[in-house]
Amino acid sequence: MADVMAKGDFFWGAASSAFQVEGHVHDDGRGRSKWDVYTHDYRITEAVVGHQDDADVAINAYDRAQSLADIALMREAGLDAYRFSVSWPRILPEGTGTVNQAGVDHYSRFVDDLLAAGITPLPTLYHWDFPQALHAKGGWHNREVIDWFADYAAVVFRALADRVSTFITLNEPYIDLFMMDLIAEKARDKRTDPMRHSSADFGRQAPAQHNMLTAHASAVAAFRQHVPGGMIGIALPLYPTIPVDENRPQDIAAAELTDGLLNRWFLDAALRGTYPADVVAALKSHNPKFAPAREDMAVLKANPVDFIGVNFYSPAYVRHDPDFPLGLGWGNTDTNPDEVKAFNGPVRPEQLYRLLLRIRDDYANPPVAITENGAGFGDGDEVMAGGLVKDPLRTDYITRHVEATLKARAEGADVRGYLVWSLFDNFEWIQGYERRFGMVHVDFATQKRTPKQSFRAYRDLIARHRAGG
Ligand code: NOJ
Repeated sequence: MADVMAKGDFFWGAASSAFQVEGHVHDDGRGRSKWDVYTHDYRITEAVVGHQDDADVAINAYDRAQSLADIALMREAGLDAYRFSVSWPRILPEGTGTVNQAGVDHYSRFVDDLLAAGITPLPTLYHWDFPQALHAKGGWHNREVIDWFADYAAVVFRALADRVSTFITLNEPYIDLFMMDLIAEKARDKRTDPMRHSSADFGRQAPAQHNMLTAHASAVAAFRQHVPGGMIGIALPLYPTIPVDENRPQDIAAAELTDGLLNRWFLDAALRGTYPADVVAALKSHNPKFAPAREDMAVLKANPVDFIGVNFYSPAYVRHDPDFPLGLGWGNTDTNPDEVKAFNGPVRPEQLYRLLLRIRDDYANPPVAITENGAGFGDGDEVMAGGLVKDPLRTDYITRHVEATLKARAEGADVRGYLVWSLFDNFEWIQGYERRFGMVHVDFATQKRTPKQSFRAYRDLIARHRAGG
């Protein structure tokens, strides 16, 4: 079994998630997920970007013939690894209880197909498509979720552990709860600004985030039983924080607390089994009931991860702003000084380099994989010409972030691989199909795939690196 996370060679790949690519939401006994409700019932993309999209078809990746063709493109790019997520409601349509064998068979076949192509499967257990049956019972707010998630994880480990040794528990826990779920609630309630949240909202989400982290640690415990000798990690959205005004004490304090909320909370939890005191105090001041139980912290402490998955897009420029939750004003647009703005924030590859050195220095140099990195800039960077899509800005973004990653590795950061988000254009959550992040263009009406300039550049970059250049 090829173990790409084992120390040694650097691995190259791309990342995706079930809900964003699979489609076929009614097939083979899949249960509903909260995102089916967010898209269809709450009309979340309409609330955010003004047009109604759903992921019923997405990019048809659930279809075997399509998937084999897609894997052929992965081979053409020279990928060592492919990160995908397992859809919890395909495995357990009600979230708990009866296992849906057709769902298990699907992922088992996909793993076989990847392995047959020489590509290491890197499954994520949870990438936001939470089973609706359990969401209706409170979802991550219900403490039973700790067992629900660990039991689901065990089903997946049992099904795949004979062929897969590296797993990721959660994708971007913070974004799921503090961004997407809050936006969904506001879309449901038809609020005028679904993107505007309060400190009380953040206080309310804090215990759910704690349950989620405890569930993660319980899944790590199950992993130790089912996949001895394997490696398990968590994929975190890490944002180096920078005060908008470096001389303004309130901005400096806001950047520090934002760093706690976005970065330290999760790194401390996953690697040390502790929470940063400043973050707990800030959240507690908006929800006195937020008091992480000692026995949960013991579960976290007993089950550290083997590696950190870094999802990096940009730093966050932060200013103190009372109109934002906890007074932490940061966002992608109003604090982004770039002339051409990337969807996910300012383009600063050197911040990825610094982040990797910080993880090396502050957390005793744990193994790291870049589990997501990539960009979209809009139509200006997606110009179809003669059967090729020109995307010079994305190409430049990926090239410079790879350089930053390899520079940190050369300076001793234990970075073992790099995955682009994403190989294919896909369903970008609250923005639907409007935002493209792929190195392969997808015509969403016909499912036709057309490699972009960035696909060729990434393929050449991988080949050069392998040749030692
Ligand atoms: C983070 C998420 O994990 C992924 O689902 C999303 O599509 C990308 N970032 C791009 O925004």
